[in-house]
Order: sequence, then structure tokens, then C-alpha cells
Amino acid sequence: MDIFSKIDNSFGPLGKYMERAHGYYAFPKLEGQISNKMMFMGKEKLVWSLNNYLGLGNHPEVRKVDAEATEEWGLAYPMGARMMSGQTKYHEELENKLAAFVNKPAAYLLNYGYQGMVSIINSLVDRHDVIVYDSEAHACIIDGMRLHFGKRFVYPHNNMENLKKELERATKIVKKTGGGIMVITEGVYGMTGDMGKLKEIVELKKQYNFRLLVDDAHGFGTMGDSGAGTGEHLGVQDDIDVYFATFAKAMAGIGGFVASSRKVIDFLMYNMRSQVYAKSLPMPMVIGSLKRLEMLQNEPEHKAKLWTIVNALQTGLKEKGLNLGNTESPVTPVYFEGGVSEGTQVTKDLRENYNIFCSIVTYPVVSKGTIMLRLIPTAMHTLEDVEYTIESFSAIKKNLDNGKYSDGKMAEMTAK
Ligand SMILES: Cc1ncc(COP(=O)(O)O)c(C=O)c1O
Repeated sequence: MDIFSKIDNSFGPLGKYMERAHGYYAFPKLEGQISNKMMFMGKEKLVWSLNNYLGLGNHPEVRKVDAEATEEWGLAYPMGARMMSGQTKYHEELENKLAAFVNKPAAYLLNYGYQGMVSIINSLVDRHDVIVYDSEAHACIIDGMRLHFGKRFVYPHNNMENLKKELERATKIVKKTGGGIMVITEGVYGMTGDMGKLKEIVELKKQYNFRLLVDDAHGFGTMGDSGAGTGEHLGVQDDIDVYFATFAKAMAGIGGFVASSRKVIDFLMYNMRSQVYAKSLPMPMVIGSLKRLEMLQNEPEHKAKLWTIVNALQTGLKEKGLNLGNTESPVTPVYFEGGVSEGTQVTKDLRENYNIFCSIVTYPVVSKGTIMLRLIPTAMHTLEDVEYTIESFSAIKKNLDNGKYSDGKMAEMTAK
């Protein structure tokens, strides 16, 4: 059989929507400079789907440093993996500053958050160990676990009773294998906006012997007094054994880092295959990240502005009777009742008639019969944007309640 012939039968769980979605719901082209307003299919839209939380993505000072670093270094240097020929004092400086900021003894850069997380998990566990993880864990955590030869147990999202049960099971197993237990959660869950129950999880360390790995992709820069993340916000940063964050969100760049004890970081430096066998981050990303980190630490006005927008948006939407679930972070999900067809029509109505661009999440990410529209407030948004969006969502909710989207009339996609 030709290896490609199975593609004729299945395009995969997301690919099956390609014909209907491509260019509109999937792979839309947002054009122009990163901002609260961008162009989509030739028309200006109010954009609520970029993780540019602090508005640093297009900040003139950031752009200047990015450009100067590119001018000075180009994109090639340093050549090779860190271990072989890709080490620089700038990479080390960024790591030292990141470690100090998140209050850990050491940190190491990752070329992408996703691959980094896969590799962190892969390096730290072997077949004798057991991983216990939250059911809503990000794909990078799931994929890291796919490389794990030992047992893994899932607990329903943030369900501490179940986590305890899984820790009981895991403890029995590692007694036999001589391995250890790793619990993995997120700081802020990027879809639903609620936090991982870090305090409660850390409390369980008194009863069970495990190490805690936290993916704080959405919490870094947005949560905690200094912006050092969800651990700081909840007062448990010291109890997080391995802290991970990406530069792809609040830092508006690319890459990420892992922070832990000196010993663990040294081990990861020599064992994380995604870093040992891949080229080092190019200089503009490193120097640009130093600038972003400096702004994140020394200019609290960006986080303050973000939270002004978050609070106004979330309060206003709730006052209009919209359901935001359990969010505790800037991530703002808006839940409606309806199926995939209604969800796509609502999204299209928002885009075409209200000029609002946001992401839609449907089954199986949310339960059947639920539509989630996800809004990501940023420091680039204005209170007028918020006001307009609250009114628009209120109108959309009325339309949904009145069955406007149930006849499938708007189901035609405008894919180009
Ligand atoms: C929770 C979480 N972890 C990891 C990642 C991956 O980070 P990166 O984009 O740097 O690969 C993301 C999203 O980008 C994320 O939302």
C-alpha cells in the first residue's frame, strides 16, 4: 500500500474541516502590524485572538532592539547547538536574568516552548517513573508523555480528590519499580482561563512523594505582583520543582525557558534532546528577549493596562449575562449553547457584521452542545474596544437565544 493512500480516507481530526474552514476559520490571514485592529480579508477587524498580553509585540522600543540586534548579528549566529558551538554570553545572561526573575537558582533556554516541554518530560522520567497529569494538559505535555515508557495517570481537570487517588496508585507502583512520581499541571489553562490548583497540589506533597512540573505559558508576565507567574500569584513558586514558560505570549517573541535547581538545569542541558540536537536561538531572539524581560520587570504599566482591559471586559460581559466559566486570568472564554454549525455561524456573524475577530472552540475541546468563543485581552486594547465588544456579544447572545443561527443560512463559508 502507498503510505499516502490513507490520506484519501482521513485528513485527521482537524484536517477533516479543511475544505469548509481553510482561509477563514483555519489559517486566516491577519494582515498589517500587530495591534488591536488588523486587516482580515481586506477589512479592518477588532482582534481578540493574539496572546500579545502586554502589548510588547509591536512596541517601538522592542522593535528597535529587535532591528538593531538583527542588523548587528544577522539571524545565523550562533551556529550549531548550544553544547557544540552555539553558546554565547548573551544566552547565559538571559538565563540568569530569567532565573532570578522567577526565583529559581537556574534556567535554560528552549528554542520553542512546545518542543522544550516535550523534551523536559522525556529527559526527567524513565520507565520506572509515573506521570500524573491534568486532563486539560496542553498538547506539548501530552506529546512529552507519549515518549514515556512508564505508567501515566490522568486526573479530571483540577479534581483534587482524583489526583489523590492517582497519587495513591502511582505511589504503589513506584514502590515496586523504584521510580519516582512527576505531577504535571498548567499555571493558567489557556482555553478556560482558570488556574491549576497549585496550592492544593503543593499541599499534597506533605502526603505523597512527588515532583511538580508547571507549564506557565499563560501565567508568565500576566500573573503575580511582579509578573513572575502563577506560582508567585498563589504564593507557591518555591514548591514548583520545574517551572516552564514560553516567550510566545506575554514576551511576544519565540522560544521559552525552563527554571529549576542548578542540578536539574545542568542535567537538562546535557539531556534535553530538543536542545542538544538542535540549533541555538539566534541572537536577535536572545537580545530581543532581554529587552522584553527588562520591560516586563521595570515597566509595570503594561501589566496594569492589561488588567484594566481584562477587568472591564470580564465584568461587562458578565453584567450582560454572558457565561465566562471559571476564568481567573486574562483568558476570557465566552460559552454559549449550540453545536459546531451554530458556532461557526456566530463567529462568521461577529467577523462579517460586527468586525470582531476572535477564535472559536467547539467539540471535542469543549463538551458537545457548547460553543466557546475565546477572547484574549491585551494592553493594546482600549476601553472603547471593550465597550463595543460587550455590546456586540450581548447582541450575539440575543440572536442565539432567538434561533438566528439555527437555520444554517449563514453556514456558507467565505473561504478563498
Ligand atoms: C500551555 C502552553 N504550553 C506550551 C505552549 C507552546 O509554546 P510555544 O508556542 O513556545 O511552542 C503553548 C502555546 O503556544 C501553550 O499554550
